Amino acid sequence: MTPRQERDRPLPEGDEKARTVRRLFDTISPRYDLVNRVMTLRMDVGWRRRTVRELTLPEGSRILDLACGTGDLCRELAAAGHRPVGFDFSHGMLLAAKTDAPLVEADILQLPVRGASADGATCGFALRNVVSLEGLFAELARVVRPGGRIALLETAEPEPWLMRLGHRVYFRKVVPMIGGLLSNREAYSYLPRSTAYLPEPGQMLAMLRAAGFPDARRLTLSRGLTQLLVATRA
Ligand SMILES: C[S@@+](CC[C@H](N)C(=O)[O-])C[C@H]1O[C@@H](n2cnc3c(N)ncnc32)[C@H](O)[C@@H]1O
Repeated sequence: MTPRQERDRPLPEGDEKARTVRRLFDTISPRYDLVNRVMTLRMDVGWRRRTVRELTLPEGSRILDLACGTGDLCRELAAAGHRPVGFDFSHGMLLAAKTDAPLVEADILQLPVRGASADGATCGFALRNVVSLEGLFAELARVVRPGGRIALLETAEPEPWLMRLGHRVYFRKVVPMIGGLLSNREAYSYLPRSTAYLPEPGQMLAMLRAAGFPDARRLTLSRGLTQLLVATRA
């Protein structure tokens, strides 16, 4: 398939989306961390650190890291004195994980966890990957105790038009190229395209508030390259 055909292919939905996402992450897992560092010029490390800080929870808190991948957020959570547990449905990503935190192979839309049993939850770069964002927010509301906190990190588009243009070129051309050189071109063509699944920021906040996080707010990091949704469970 040519790069253009790859770009124009319709995005999968439902079960097909879940299967596609799991397969892609299984494929890219061995070099996922390396590609992340190169593509973000290591900014991703600071973004995850900020995510953990925005939880504003005391040390020793039980935090569920949803879609933990190779465990980067679990490591940051542990370094901050929390007790993380990671969940991901890609066996390959979990095998490649470098963290001492317990890891569970599970769908984050159906967590094998009791209701209101977590002090908080994080999720890094996976909102666009789930089949149902409402389903994910409902699951967060189920597992996080009243007063518990969530911090959800995701890519974004900067607002200033020149930055937005540069960002689009980078995401659509450079990311698949770097991904192709270091890992797998198909996966790194899909991942930038998958941002199309993300609702507008205002809509995501409204969904979070309706799910049981009335104080949900959005922070932008690195001049809008990423967004962080933070909220308290009512
Ligand atoms: C872009 S990676 C992010 C990994 C990690 N959170 C990070 O910050 O680097 C997205 C991860 O979401 C996982 N994922 C996507 N949908 C999922 C689901 N429904 N249940 C469990 N894991 C899921 C993928 O397997 C993948 O590991």
